[in-house]
Amino acid sequence: MNPSGGLLWHWRAWRSQKLWRSTCEQISIWLEQVHPHSSELILIGASAGWMMSSPWLQKFKKVMVWDIDGLAAPLFRWRHAAALKASGTELVFNRADALVNLGGLLSAHPKACVLFDNLLGQVRFHSLDLDVVSENISNIIRTLKGREWGSLHDTYSGPVDEALSSQNLPAKQMRMQGEPDAEKSDQTWFQKLGAQGEWLDHLTSSVFDTGTVVHHIAWPYRPRYCHWLQAGWTHA
Ligand SMILES: C[S@@+](CC[C@H](N)C(=O)[O-])C[C@H]1O[C@@H](n2cnc3c(N)ncnc32)[C@H](O)[C@@H]1O
Repeated sequence: MNPSGGLLWHWRAWRSQKLWRSTCEQISIWLEQVHPHSSELILIGASAGWMMSSPWLQKFKKVMVWDIDGLAAPLFRWRHAAALKASGTELVFNRADALVNLGGLLSAHPKACVLFDNLLGQVRFHSLDLDVVSENISNIIRTLKGREWGSLHDTYSGPVDEALSSQNLPAKQMRMQGEPDAEKSDQTWFQKLGAQGEWLDHLTSSVFDTGTVVHHIAWPYRPRYCHWLQAGWTHA
């Protein structure tokens, strides 16, 4: 059983395209501001690229995708292959676990930058021991040292008081990781989302190093249940 992908995920993503439209637009705006130095991309956890922007992928000469989900490759091709063909971008799909030997994967592609595409927040669901989860995430970050990389991931998720939709979604917010007012800015963001009750911590709040520009994006996963996405890019 794949806790963060598979048929259920594709079904939900397909059905939620209207509900998720503003979130996808905000992700796309963030990506437009990311100008990678590398012409090769390692894209981890791409799934079908339901929330991914084709124009951003078109910037690369080569996009190498990793996902453990067997449906990811055909659906990703269905959604993005025509655009990538138009830009002459080579697309290589690997149905494999990218985390089991991330160091080896990076060594095999020394010049590629890396994007974790809504995956690091799911590491939480692969172990019941939260210390193990935090250690696993820290190990991933350590392995990336010296590499150009970015991530879009869940930070927290939980119920909201009012149904969020593409119409009333709060606009993307930015802050610097580790800035003195970070906690205050995060509280304001929680209020903007209309957070209620208990929220799940995805244990990703320290993925980015101090000084990284971090973007907060609201994702109305279901009408009254929202994910707070965090996005950032680290130049080597
Ligand atoms: C929430 S989905 C990503 C959504 C995707 N970025 C999109 O726009 O549709 C997380 C994906 O990560 C994949 N995944 C989970 N663990 C993985 C691993 N260790 N290596 C590669 N892919 C993994 C899952 O199969 C799933 O497709």
